[in-house]
Amino acid sequence: MLTSGGDCQSLNATMRGVAKALYNMFDDVEIVGFEEGYKGLMYADYQILKPGDFSGILTRGGTILGTSRQPFKQMREPDENGLDKVEAMKHTYRKLRLECLVVLGGNGSQKTANLLREEGLNIVSLPKTIDNDLWGTDMTFGFQSAVNVATNAIDCIHTTAASHGRVFIVEIMGHKVGWLTLHAGIAGGADIILLPEIPYDLNIVCDALKKRSAAGKKFSIIAVAEGAISKEDAALSKKELKEKKKNSLYPSVAYEIGAKISQATGQEVRVTVPGHMQRGGEPCPYDRVLSTRLGAEAAELIKNGEYGYMVVVKNNEITKIPLSETAGKLKYVDPNSSIIKEAKLVGISFGDQ
Ligand code: F6P
Repeated sequence: MLTSGGDCQSLNATMRGVAKALYNMFDDVEIVGFEEGYKGLMYADYQILKPGDFSGILTRGGTILGTSRQPFKQMREPDENGLDKVEAMKHTYRKLRLECLVVLGGNGSQKTANLLREEGLNIVSLPKTIDNDLWGTDMTFGFQSAVNVATNAIDCIHTTAASHGRVFIVEIMGHKVGWLTLHAGIAGGADIILLPEIPYDLNIVCDALKKRSAAGKKFSIIAVAEGAISKEDAALSKKELKEKKKNSLYPSVAYEIGAKISQATGQEVRVTVPGHMQRGGEPCPYDRVLSTRLGAEAAELIKNGEYGYMVVVKNNEITKIPLSETAGKLKYVDPNSSIIKEAKLVGISFGDQ
């Protein structure tokens, strides 16, 4: 097995789920752990794991195997020494006479898993990411733990915000999607939530802030997704947007929005970016349960020789989806979904109307 891409709190819990179920099913199972994701498979960097390696890791964040980003786009390019990466991975798999490769990964890692499946390897994959953006599963492991951390950040801002008459902006991770910001924003009682899926109009954001001030509210909290985008920027071509971002004066979107709000309203603004804290710490109970369930079902697939699937959760049941169907597809927040409607009903502004 290997853990690939950005880490999250529940990787160890998931590997433990797979391992415990396999050890229960077979007397002679051997688990090989590849170091630092696909890199370990490419360069035959691995360790033979023992049952004891999976003890005490249910609650431990990070990954006992280490991880790295190996961009899918570069998988077909040789490495700096001319090594064919895909052939090297196949070679390691065959040399170790593996029955199956278990991949714990996000979007890019699922694409590589599917590539290896097409190349003839037996694959079972598991949906990891704090972003919750994998198509085909209601939930990814790591997401709920990150929601806890991001919510806690907003909670902390709330107490200081209550003492000062300021606008506080909390920038939340999530890559191209707004799941984490949406959930942490609602859970933390944010007044305004800005998501990549709902391009915002700065005038509407400022109007919402002014309305709060006029109603006697001393402070406002805005939860901004790192991928949030204005209506004007959403109308730009990919190339134009890339160029604009390259020349931006601001370290990230929250700072840009903060500067513009301050200019337009005269209000004092503070920006907080919890960043990688959101991937850190221990997995929350929800994730521990989800990881254990997903891991156990992955073991069941291996036992049955059912390969080429990602194990997923649908309507609270654990099931599977062909990698060929899910790999490369992102799951976005639907602006017309009921959660957005309900958030608007309680007065949260998304900067769109
Ligand atoms: O995909 C998880 C994630 O934390 C995203 O939310 C974020 O955009 C990205 O990874 C950060 O990546 P890195 O750790 O490589 O800076």
